[in-house]
Amino acid sequence: MNTQTLQTLAQQFRADLTTVTSADELRELEIRYLGRKQGLVTELLRKLKDLSIEQRKKIGPQIQQLKVEITAEIENTESQILNFRSQISVDVTLPGEKIPVGHYCPLTTIRRQAEDVFRSMGFMVIDGPELESEYYNFEAVNIPAWHPAREMWDTFYVRDPERDKEMKRQGDEESNRLLLRTHTSAMQVRIMREFPLPIKAIVPGTVYRNEATDARHEKAFLNVEGLLVGKGISLQHLISVNRVFLKKVLGDDVQVRFRPGYFPFTEPSLELDISCLICKQTGCSVCKKTGWLEYMGAGMVHPNVLRAGGIDPKKYTGFAFGFGLDRLVMLKYGVDDVRLFRSQDLRFIQQF
Ligand code: PHE
Repeated sequence: MNTQTLQTLAQQFRADLTTVTSADELRELEIRYLGRKQGLVTELLRKLKDLSIEQRKKIGPQIQQLKVEITAEIENTESQILNFRSQISVDVTLPGEKIPVGHYCPLTTIRRQAEDVFRSMGFMVIDGPELESEYYNFEAVNIPAWHPAREMWDTFYVRDPERDKEMKRQGDEESNRLLLRTHTSAMQVRIMREFPLPIKAIVPGTVYRNEATDARHEKAFLNVEGLLVGKGISLQHLISVNRVFLKKVLGDDVQVRFRPGYFPFTEPSLELDISCLICKQTGCSVCKKTGWLEYMGAGMVHPNVLRAGGIDPKKYTGFAFGFGLDRLVMLKYGVDDVRLFRSQDLRFIQQF
């Protein structure tokens, strides 16, 4: 036994170590070299006693050194294996982690459906400003400042004195105050001025009202305005367009009824009711036991409004209608409180 023997053993150990692929194999390697009974290094130590004192003194510490090195390398490899394991170990039997996925609010789903149905009948879908001028919201649709109907559509006014001054200086008709629009009818005159006849448009959008809220009334809701202006347009067209729309969204069972109504911007004016789908007209709290639900206002566009839009009422006629999309969604799904839509309550929204 000499230094050469030790070096050969060290080399052999390193070669063996590179073939190790698991913790079990590492354990075998450890036993093979350091095992107390037949370990190769242990054997050498045992054989020391056959050597002369001189040789023992020389080679003894070298064997000890080799033992320390082998021990360190085995420990090092072991910790590498453990580390690797903790990084890649996957327990495929564990149940998967559920990633919550959101979905559209029913108001959005039905708004999109409504847009699709009207588009299929040739209507444009138009957007408009929520912060609207008093002119377009009221004056342009035949509701002058003195008109009592303004009270029905009370809203939130926004003051911008700088803008007022500038508009007044320019003599602009929009010099009046800004407000949160109360209906998307505010877009009627803008549309008439912008697009050539015949005009077929719907305007879905949020509108605001100064409202003491209850189960049927909200201070903000989604309004859908419809407008069709052209030659020879009559109430008959208004009725059939809305029948088609309601059957598409609510199904063939829905019944529609018209009553006379009043709006300053239509003449004649109508109110449209739909049969209560919640109780199937047997009478419930939602329809107040009448079997019918108020659903929308409509009528033939008032000549003053056509004129404001630059259209000759002698040559052309048109119809307009406006409904609350929230109301429609309530009917479709049997929701009995409109405030739930904007309550931010996930327990409500997750039912859809
Ligand atoms: N804008 C009316 C409302 O807010 C509804 C309506 C629209 C009535 C168009 C007639 C014509 O109640």
